[in-house]
Amino acid sequence: MSELHVRWRSQVIAVGSYLPEKILTNAALAATVETTDEWIVERTGIRQRHIAADGEMTSDLATEAAKQALSHAGIPAEAIDMIVVATATPDETFPSVATKVQHKLGMTRGFAFDVQAVCSGFVYALAVADNFIKAGQVTNVLVIGAETFSRLLDWTDRGTCVLFGDGAGAVVLRAEKAQNSKTDRGILATRLHSDGRHHDLLYVDGGPSSTRTVGHLRMKGREVFRHAVTNLTAVVGDTLADSGFMPADIDWIVPHQANRRILEATATKLGMNVDRVIVTVDRHANTSAASVPLALNVAVNDGRIKPGDLLMFEAMGGGFTWGAALVRW
Ligand code: ACO
Repeated sequence: MSELHVRWRSQVIAVGSYLPEKILTNAALAATVETTDEWIVERTGIRQRHIAADGEMTSDLATEAAKQALSHAGIPAEAIDMIVVATATPDETFPSVATKVQHKLGMTRGFAFDVQAVCSGFVYALAVADNFIKAGQVTNVLVIGAETFSRLLDWTDRGTCVLFGDGAGAVVLRAEKAQNSKTDRGILATRLHSDGRHHDLLYVDGGPSSTRTVGHLRMKGREVFRHAVTNLTAVVGDTLADSGFMPADIDWIVPHQANRRILEATATKLGMNVDRVIVTVDRHANTSAASVPLALNVAVNDGRIKPGDLLMFEAMGGGFTWGAALVRW
């Protein structure tokens, strides 16, 4: 059965985001590790990244993004039934960031949990929330992507430390009766994939059950790049096929922001103009699970994304995990 035939549709009624105050430019990084602004810009498109302050935790970033999204939605925190936080950088091993956000928002009802799919986390969390809504179990949901990747980086490894930043983005989903038409607003299709064989290409070399430490991010960048373009192109194509749309129907791709060259190569393989891709990697770098809602927030606020536009969210990350979501704004 086509994903378009459902009783409830998850409408995305608002978006919000938060970026830590401190900005770290490529030039400032080049003073501490052997790299240059030119190398980073040419290979990745990144010019700067935001870095959380001492004591500022993932749950703080997530809560600020959630407050902004709730304010844009015009609903109080008590109206939320479920919070899903996508993160690979929780404040603590447990409890979840989501329950901390729930408390910081002053909520005592509903339920909250984290989803761990690294850079694909927001797409995973969105799909999980969408399925709760389709099942008729919840009405209003906060889906948040929040990360403090600066805390996972080996700041002496120039191959990885230049690529990442901190931030958070959030959306509010609301269950609306589906019209089961291609013009329905909200989440029209989602697709998730993973393949654990590629663990060693992108992972963190620590954890409570292995080393009892937090560890550092390790990556074979070139191989990740190759898999990213192949997997993202395939998952976008499959998500379109699931819902009966064509690449030409997409108004905006809102991708995970890993590397400008990955974004452009994926769009080109899909036969899409790169002007249709929302790019924030220059300002935010790779914020993992936060990057899709951060990019969405930028393009909604600057007026590029308008009500009725067809959006494709796509992401790939450690695991490997990857996925996409087709959304009518
Ligand atoms: N500054 C200067 N030189 C550098 C730096 C740096 N920051 N980092 C690496 N180099 C050097 C390397 O040492 C190497 O030197 P050598 O030829 O003397 O050995 C040279 O640059 C080329 O290194 P490569 O790793 O082959 O460079 P590449 O063109 O592949 O770019 C990059 C590296 C930017 C990491 C790229 O592979 C990439 O973006 N991969 C995708 C990884 C990614 O985005 N992961 C994020 C998570 S997954 C995801 O989100 C999709």
